[in-house]
Amino acid sequence: MADQVKKEYWNHFFKNPKKNYNPYMERLKEYPEYIMYDKEIMDSYKGRWKEYFGNENPIYIEIGSGSGNFAIGMCEKYPERNHMAIELRFKRLHSSARKAKRINLDNVLFIRRFGEQIPEFVGENEITGMYINFPDPWEGNEKNRIIQLPLFETLDKVLKVGGKLFFKTDHDVYYEDVLVLAKELKNYKVVYNTPDLHNSDKSEENILTEFEQLFLNKFQKNINYIEIEKIK
Ligand SMILES: C[S@@+](CC[C@H](N)C(=O)[O-])C[C@H]1O[C@@H](n2cnc3c(N)ncnc32)[C@H](O)[C@@H]1O
Repeated sequence: MADQVKKEYWNHFFKNPKKNYNPYMERLKEYPEYIMYDKEIMDSYKGRWKEYFGNENPIYIEIGSGSGNFAIGMCEKYPERNHMAIELRFKRLHSSARKAKRINLDNVLFIRRFGEQIPEFVGENEITGMYINFPDPWEGNEKNRIIQLPLFETLDKVLKVGGKLFFKTDHDVYYEDVLVLAKELKNYKVVYNTPDLHNSDKSEENILTEFEQLFLNKFQKNINYIEIEKIK
């Protein structure tokens, strides 16, 4: 690949060029119908994602979609929904898109962006639900967690009233902390929670993520789950 093209890619994703080159960065281009990485294009869809999907179906967003198993499972199960899956890692995005293409999904889009930047490219009341599965608990550095007050400030803008945040984690303390935080918020209500999703009445409808599969098979760890509704 010409150096100029490489440089363009680095410039695209990072402020400064780097020495190491991740081949999957370039390979995102193999799936233009499934992966969006251009910020300007993303931002231009703010408030009009239904035009991108070509229908009026509800839009759900997922932060940290990993290699896409959950997004793909949801899109197969709910073809009447659109799913925007946000992920940072190039290889995981590429692998997600490959899986989506294999089964010709038309209701999923994988986005290379920080979840914290959602208000830059998602409009007011544009989404019906948000999924966050197994986010990093940042032990000892909890201020870096994705589920904190600023996330709810984002949801104040982008989530419809009656819409929900869905959260799964293996981390028992993160689970307890989110329950405490949500109960303090006037416009949100915890409508379902369990420290043992796989032995709950929601286990049948649950779609496994890659991390969840690993925790179940290797560690037999209980999975915590919360649904939080925006009530006003
Ligand atoms: C622990 S993994 C979980 C992946 C997947 N949800 C699962 O359950 O298998 C967390 C994922 O979030 C992504 N991630 C971390 N911080 C992020 C951020 N600020 N915005 C978007 N994705 C992020 C990571 O690259 C990683 O793939």
